[in-house]
Amino acid sequence: MTDEVQASFDARATRYDENRRNLIPNFDEYYRIGVDALAYEGISPRVLDLGGGTGLSTSYLLERYPEARVTLLDFSEEMLAIARERFRDNPNIGFAVGDYRVFRPAETFDIVISGLSIHHLSTQEKRDLAVSIFGVLTPTGEFVNADLVRCADEHLEQKMHRHLHAFMRATMSADEVEHFIVSQRIDRPEPLEDQLDFLHSAGFTVAECLYRYWIYGVFYGRK
Ligand SMILES: C[S@@+](CC[C@H](N)C(=O)[O-])C[C@H]1O[C@@H](n2cnc3c(N)ncnc32)[C@H](O)[C@@H]1O
Repeated sequence: MTDEVQASFDARATRYDENRRNLIPNFDEYYRIGVDALAYEGISPRVLDLGGGTGLSTSYLLERYPEARVTLLDFSEEMLAIARERFRDNPNIGFAVGDYRVFRPAETFDIVISGLSIHHLSTQEKRDLAVSIFGVLTPTGEFVNADLVRCADEHLEQKMHRHLHAFMRATMSADEVEHFIVSQRIDRPEPLEDQLDFLHSAGFTVAECLYRYWIYGVFYGRK
């Protein structure tokens, strides 16, 4: 599955940013609500962006913390190439090519963020990753994950997808919608309660779902 995920993002990197707003309702709220919830009050947090890709999540983090020192970690060189260009004038942004399932940084971070990435992992990998994230955070560290959520009930799950497809058809061609549906075959989203359990089980004292709309959810954890 890893090779398939990496290859998929390498292949669509140059066009990745083009249609994100057509895929995600309430786009700005989805990316801002987790950043807004952060308790960190300093000016220059150390931040790790897991699956940072083209830098969308980091760009929203920088709206609130323009002087943040961010490391974007991603195993797609092609996605990171877009992010390098996006942040070329910001010396506080660093890039690491690698798989976050095995990446063990020597430093700690005040904040870990992730956007639409962790749902590619298996259930056990998600549990293990939550433990790793807990381990790289400072004692008051926080984690924000804007990701996918699955309904445990299949009827409701299908309904969420039908709503989303209707939303996409308002601005995208039938071919583009079909292309998106095909790209979803590498997604492995989890139910909301399970995602909260991953955080609690890893040791987070606060674990909340801050936002949910159709298949999209935003999760927050604090040590
Ligand atoms: C849908 S993109 C999201 C990019 C960005 N965070 C955003 O919100 O637009 C998912 C990114 O996660 C990366 N990714 C997925 N699994 C990964 C892993 N195990 N290690 C590192 N990067 C991973 C992919 O290469 C891709 O760039």
